[in-house]
Amino acid sequence: MPMPAHARVPLAAALIIAGVTGAGAAAFAYTAGWLSPGRLTPNKILDALDPNPALGHRRNHAKGICFAGTFEANGNGAEISRAPMLAAGTYPALGRFNLGTPDPDAADATVRVRGLSLQITSPDGAVWRAAMIDPPFFPVSTPEGFYELQKASKSKDPGAMGALALRHPEVTPFFAWASTAPYTTSYAQNRFNSLDAFIATDTAGTTRAVRWSYVPQAAATPVGAQALAALGPDHLETEIAARVAAAPQRWTLEFTLAAPGDPTNDPSKAWPAGRRTIAAGTLVVRATQPERDGPCRDINFDPTLLPDGLAVSDDPIPAARSAAYARSYDLRAAEAQDYPRHLNTGSAAR
Ligand code: HEM
Repeated sequence: MPMPAHARVPLAAALIIAGVTGAGAAAFAYTAGWLSPGRLTPNKILDALDPNPALGHRRNHAKGICFAGTFEANGNGAEISRAPMLAAGTYPALGRFNLGTPDPDAADATVRVRGLSLQITSPDGAVWRAAMIDPPFFPVSTPEGFYELQKASKSKDPGAMGALALRHPEVTPFFAWASTAPYTTSYAQNRFNSLDAFIATDTAGTTRAVRWSYVPQAAATPVGAQALAALGPDHLETEIAARVAAAPQRWTLEFTLAAPGDPTNDPSKAWPAGRRTIAAGTLVVRATQPERDGPCRDINFDPTLLPDGLAVSDDPIPAARSAAYARSYDLRAAEAQDYPRHLNTGSAAR
């Protein structure tokens, strides 16, 4: 029986449809990395961070505590950026103090890198998310370097780290920092740095490359790893909860402006001292809450989520971070039934 005319698909149209769906499938395959097995994908990065992760938790910086507070802008930041939360005023802030480890039960003194994750919201609904750490520079220049560092640090081959240092000589200053810099006894005493460079745009449209730091107003108590370990495996969370309950804790937001020639595409290179800085306001942490019930748990502190007036630069790392954080978020959100497993929850340990 002949097909009715309206049901017949002309050959040319069928080819176009096949082409479109085929191209779509190819695009998905490309994005997933199936067409280029050597390509670095978010899944590969997460697997390198921990092939047997704690389900329901962040795939890195998994141990943390939520906080709420305000960002009090003094208006000085408006000189370089039209971001609404840099205009003088007080804005809601929430975030997370955390340790740079995929293990939510890691003892504080076993983790070298500490993090501050932050979201500041303006009345018009604009959001500035950031995730910063306490080292003065990042260990590597590229996402590939980050992947290789994770692989080498977990390798059983005693020569793996040496080989990594040959391929990525930029790691050497970080290793020197990690083995000599003192720890502090409180998150309130840490300086947290963006390390990645961003582009600030003012109301006239002038752009400037910047990095920023949250500089603690509390005086530091420098300690070695042994003294920190003696305070207990979960000292940092207990301490910050008690400290904030006694009084709000403060950090100054300080922008550093790049001079011509300063590298914006390499967070492993600190900019020379003496660059102009602008103190743009104060982060005031007023309350903490365990992560399991806290407002930070279900937030992806994607560092590319920026308000008008701030944008990513030619630094290759934030885009890779954005992709990896999104994958980590999707996985941990889908594993919600496996959370909590953290020691503080009183549930079964890993
Ligand atoms: C290629 C480089 C990097 C990769 C692949 C990477 C990967 C990750 C992943 C997978 C997470 C968990 C995200 C989530 O589940 O929400 C994470 C969290 C975090 N990362 Fe990175 N990271 C990189 C570079 C950096 C840099 C340069 C910084 C800081 C300057 C940083 C600071 C943090 C912080 C503070 C967190 C905790 C975020 C939170 O509280 O949700 N990371 N990272």
